[in-house]
Amino acid sequence: MQSANKKSTNFQIRTNANSFVHEVLELDVKEISDIQFDQLERSFDHGGVLFMRNQDLQTADLVAFSRRFGELEGHVRHEYAMPGYPEVHVLSNIKKGNKTIGSAYAGDDWHLDLCFMREPARMAILYAIEIPHDDDGNALGDTLFASGSDAYDTLDNDLRDRLENKKCLMQYNRRQEEKRLQRLHDHPRPPMTDEQKAKTPDIWQPIFRTHPNTGRKAIYANKVNTFRIEGMSEEESLPIIRSLQKHVTKPENVYRHKWQVGDLLMWDNASAHHMAIGDYKLPQRRKLIRTSIKGGPVF
Ligand code: SIN
Repeated sequence: MQSANKKSTNFQIRTNANSFVHEVLELDVKEISDIQFDQLERSFDHGGVLFMRNQDLQTADLVAFSRRFGELEGHVRHEYAMPGYPEVHVLSNIKKGNKTIGSAYAGDDWHLDLCFMREPARMAILYAIEIPHDDDGNALGDTLFASGSDAYDTLDNDLRDRLENKKCLMQYNRRQEEKRLQRLHDHPRPPMTDEQKAKTPDIWQPIFRTHPNTGRKAIYANKVNTFRIEGMSEEESLPIIRSLQKHVTKPENVYRHKWQVGDLLMWDNASAHHMAIGDYKLPQRRKLIRTSIKGGPVF
């Protein structure tokens, strides 16, 4: 952490060494005032990743805080919703009997959430309930973040000019089936139903997306869901998509979040590429719950 800026209200927002990440200190989100909320939202829009530690939330508190940002939406994989809370998605490797209670090892490669939807969620908010540890007490299951906006600003000019205003093909159903087949042994996933597939058809999205609030552009193509670039074959496209992802996730641009129980972390789906590290397995238990706030069309 580099700088600590005392705000006019009684909490602090610290900018991380990766300047797109902000940590909020001395704030209980259950008590947040309207003025504090406005400050928080501005910092969030400005950076793209914001977190605070030591929150003590019930599921209903998470829902109430999330609703301050806008209307919530449930995940297309509704089988992983928290019972009684269709808008809360459970990320977990914990099993009840033979059944995993949440989506296990989700997001284990670089991606932007819901980039395959016509109107992807604006943001996600994740709350840590159980975090796995190794035998020495070190937290496992970290999440990595990188800014697609910073990456756009520093992209090689020739490549940027070549791809500017072009679209890329996102294929969620294809990726889900590939991942499902890899996971059959430890945490089998049901195949997507026809109804779920119908909600996530293949879609062409901009390679560079504009942030609706700040106007900043971000690299939106990503390794997990993007398979093709407009006007190119898949074989021609994939090396370019991989090189864009490599640029976004240069080690010096990556923030690694080491989770603690009670962490509340939010990221902007217009710019925050992320990836969860699957370096744990039962009996090491991981459980986080996530809300998603509705967004608008991508441009
Ligand atoms: C995700 O939403 O991509 C998963 C994040 C995580 O489990 O750390």
